[in-house]
Amino acid sequence: MKVLIVGSGGREHALCWALAKSPKCGELICAPGNAGIAEIARCVDVSADNVPALVELAVAEKVGLVVVGPEGPLVAGLVDRLQEVGIKAFGPSAAAAAIEGSKGMMKDLCAHYDIPTAAYARFDEPDGAKEYIRVHGAPIVVKADGLAAGKGVILCRNENEAYAAIDHIMIEEAFGQAGAEVVVEEFMTGEEASFFAIVDGEHALPLVAAQDHKAAYDGDEGPNTGGMGAYSPAPVVDAAMSKRIMDEIILPTIRGMARDGNPYKGVLFAGLMIDAKGPRLIEYNCRFGDPECQPIMSRLKSDLLELLLAAVDGGLDRIKLKWSPSSALTVVMAANGYPGKYEKNSEIKGIKEAEKIAGVSVFHAGTKADNGRILAIGGRVLGVTATGKSIGLAQKKAYKAVAKIDWPGGFNRTDIGWRAINRE
Ligand code: AMP
Ligand code: GLY
Repeated sequence: MKVLIVGSGGREHALCWALAKSPKCGELICAPGNAGIAEIARCVDVSADNVPALVELAVAEKVGLVVVGPEGPLVAGLVDRLQEVGIKAFGPSAAAAAIEGSKGMMKDLCAHYDIPTAAYARFDEPDGAKEYIRVHGAPIVVKADGLAAGKGVILCRNENEAYAAIDHIMIEEAFGQAGAEVVVEEFMTGEEASFFAIVDGEHALPLVAAQDHKAAYDGDEGPNTGGMGAYSPAPVVDAAMSKRIMDEIILPTIRGMARDGNPYKGVLFAGLMIDAKGPRLIEYNCRFGDPECQPIMSRLKSDLLELLLAAVDGGLDRIKLKWSPSSALTVVMAANGYPGKYEKNSEIKGIKEAEKIAGVSVFHAGTKADNGRILAIGGRVLGVTATGKSIGLAQKKAYKAVAKIDWPGGFNRTDIGWRAINRE
């Protein structure tokens, strides 16, 4: 079967890498892809946001399955448009992707189906939002309702910061239309984890959990990023916690959405806050996490294509997933300056040397090939991923591989996995 992957990040490289192992997978095409993906798939220069061009490409190539990586095209209705022309696609419809595309929609769903999450209120004008902040006090969290490239969440230590956040989103319109509405919610404490389930509209199959490092610098300091590293398993999500997350959060969501006539298909990514009382939902995403997808795919022993097709066609209840008992850990290498302004086109050397270490895969994100050279063209550029018997051993191997990479234009955190390693 010919498969088209949409996206250009480390997540999509890891998905291509896992799909390429399937005996059922024929030609792999990726739009637009990157220099690493180009080694295992045919990359086509169509942007992941260009829905009509992606549909045209899938039709012209007679693709058997489209796998959509990022949230943008999902929220914009790529899966709906592909279904209209009879092409199978892994991912939610636009209506179901609103679970990520509208924080207000997700919070209302939680309230309606009694899913544990932070107490909240929605506002479409600043005065009401500020009054709510005055009544509830700080710390408090202000969120733009719509997609804001991962920047729409503002954690406010005091009331003045919260008022400023409301002005930033609603009056200065920092995120445009995405901030026409806001959610103001309780500040939660605990340990964060990323939980993924593959869903076919009716059944949900949990994947192994992962933990991400959102802050740019060591010690979880500095600005928030898309994720500077991740590992799996997540010690905070043991078997009992995984069952609670399924019973209290994932299954009520799937059943509720089906009951509301808006069934969810694809991967459901729950960002969780876990404390002594149990798991609470921070947010839903309608896609795989990046970098979390990289260590998770590194541990998957089952056929990914079969799994994704079962989600599209229904029948996930017949699938049993096999996982490597090893741990996996990804260190993200990012361009100097990220998540702020960063330089492009610096050369990266040593990737092949890094990959010679057994159990190491270097997943590419913002890279481009240029006459045999690899150039950095994005913020997050590489995901150096290693497996090992423990998270500590996977970490050692990943940093040994990072040391082989010669890239003065980039930086990485040196403490990925610290929380889990402290527990080992
Ligand atoms: P998001 O962009 O929704 O992933 O949020 C970014 C980060 O903000 C999350 O990973 C959490 O660390 C933090 N966050 C979001 N909502 C809350 C909340 N209600 N309480 C505490 N932290 C939060
Ligand atoms: N690493 C978090 C995300 O993909 O949103």
